Amino acid sequence: MFEQPTAAFREGFPQDTAAGRIPFDKMGTIVIFGATGDLAGRKLIPAIYNLWEAGYLPPEVNVVGVARREKSDDDYRTDMCEELKKHSRTGHGGDDACNPFVSNLFYHRVNFAENADLTSLAQRLTEIEDERETPHNRLFYLATGPEFFAPLVQRLGEAGLVYGPNDSNWSRVVIEKPFGNDLESARQLNQAITRVLTEEQIYRIDHYLGKETVQNIFAFRFGNAIFEPLFNQKYVDHVQITVAETLGVEGRGEFYDATGALHDVVQNHALQLLCLAAMEPPVEFRAKDIRDEKLKALRSIHLPNTKEPSEWLVRGQYAEGFGEPGYLSEEEVDPNSETETFVALRLSVDNWRWAGVPFFIRSGKRLKKRLTEIAIQFRKPPLQYFKKLGVDAPEANELVFRIQPKEAISLSFNAKPPGMDFQIRPVNMDFRYGRTFREDLPDAYERLLLDALRGDSTLFTRADEIEVAWQIVNSIRDAWQGLPPPELYRPRSWGPASADRMFDCCQGHWRTPEDEDEWRSP
Ligand code: BG6
Repeated sequence: MFEQPTAAFREGFPQDTAAGRIPFDKMGTIVIFGATGDLAGRKLIPAIYNLWEAGYLPPEVNVVGVARREKSDDDYRTDMCEELKKHSRTGHGGDDACNPFVSNLFYHRVNFAENADLTSLAQRLTEIEDERETPHNRLFYLATGPEFFAPLVQRLGEAGLVYGPNDSNWSRVVIEKPFGNDLESARQLNQAITRVLTEEQIYRIDHYLGKETVQNIFAFRFGNAIFEPLFNQKYVDHVQITVAETLGVEGRGEFYDATGALHDVVQNHALQLLCLAAMEPPVEFRAKDIRDEKLKALRSIHLPNTKEPSEWLVRGQYAEGFGEPGYLSEEEVDPNSETETFVALRLSVDNWRWAGVPFFIRSGKRLKKRLTEIAIQFRKPPLQYFKKLGVDAPEANELVFRIQPKEAISLSFNAKPPGMDFQIRPVNMDFRYGRTFREDLPDAYERLLLDALRGDSTLFTRADEIEVAWQIVNSIRDAWQGLPPPELYRPRSWGPASADRMFDCCQGHWRTPEDEDEWRSP
């Protein structure tokens, strides 16, 4: 039913690694555990397809889906064609485009919930690779529930699916989030998987690190000489990190109710963004050096030393509104739940560069806008020259990394509008991805999958980073033991009103960009 790529196609594939391509002999079979799940259909298969279509992967790329349901290869191929039609970023994946690609897909049933061993999978992989004359390298992607991470890694080892450092082939394991649900469980998971794998074989995913705009923070900070000297306590008043979503829990009530905004987004995405904004320049632009610097930034984080945690920590829960249920009425959510769907907090990065600069983080669901950004708020000018002219004090300069949507970097400064009187008004210098590069941004999973296949772990989190992030989050949780239950907030707002109290200590207020275009020139 499904066409095979022809040998001529393979022979025509360039064997160099220019422009990030993976040559045929370096490629590995991609094995997805949890192959019938949402992540595989919505993100992973479309990402592999887009990489393949763009020529980053050789024409014969083996993708083996592993899950518990009974299914034939052809059933799986048909299902994935449907997913591609719905989710491929390039808008392709219709039947014609889908056909040669999905013939690379295979399905293998394993009931890993019952700890079935993986010997049959090992045999199947060898058969597929031998038959298609492809290398025996393997990338295992664990897109399953977190309870299967440690047992699956153990079973991979037992089935002989993990190569040693002296083997000529490679095996790597990508582990989805959540990586643990507190410090202790993250440590246990790290211990369990490192009994089987070396750190170099482990790729812990935080999909935020694969976003183009997040990677561009490196380019912006360390590829320009003019901004980096300003990134410190002498010039920066405070930093605001926002990860706001308009969606609610979207059918993930059970997972979310056991997780909450602090664990779901702050422990990983928000703290990773903070690291990239706050870290020192790495010795070299390679995985170890970058991760060392991120780790140092994380280790410098401290929570405010006050008796009253509500001065720096606010939790909220979305109420009913706009025809949509409140959090407590969502399916599979405990109607008395105290899980937070919004969290805002202030912390400090106590190192030479950032001492005394507050870092504010907020994240929540059902907020006014889908918006992820890092805003660096600079200090105000030291003298108020224009006050005598009756001119309002100029606004502080602001540098905003708009991670999504409408990806951009914007710098605001003050200017005099034309006219016979003297006024001052903030204006913006903007760089917009869409306008400058005029190409569709790749999905984060495309970049991360390609990096894992290439063996580049720069954009994945290391064991020690994850553990320090959990330490911070554990301390935040300890601090909120004394707080009242989360405060209700109106959907399509910027969260509970009490989040504003956090600025009592400092200048400024939460940014509330009303309209994406308002804060940037047309
Ligand atoms: C995930 C969280 O890690 O990130 C989700 O589990 C959240 O709750 C999602 O919606 C946000 O990712 P993105 O890429 O849509 O900003």
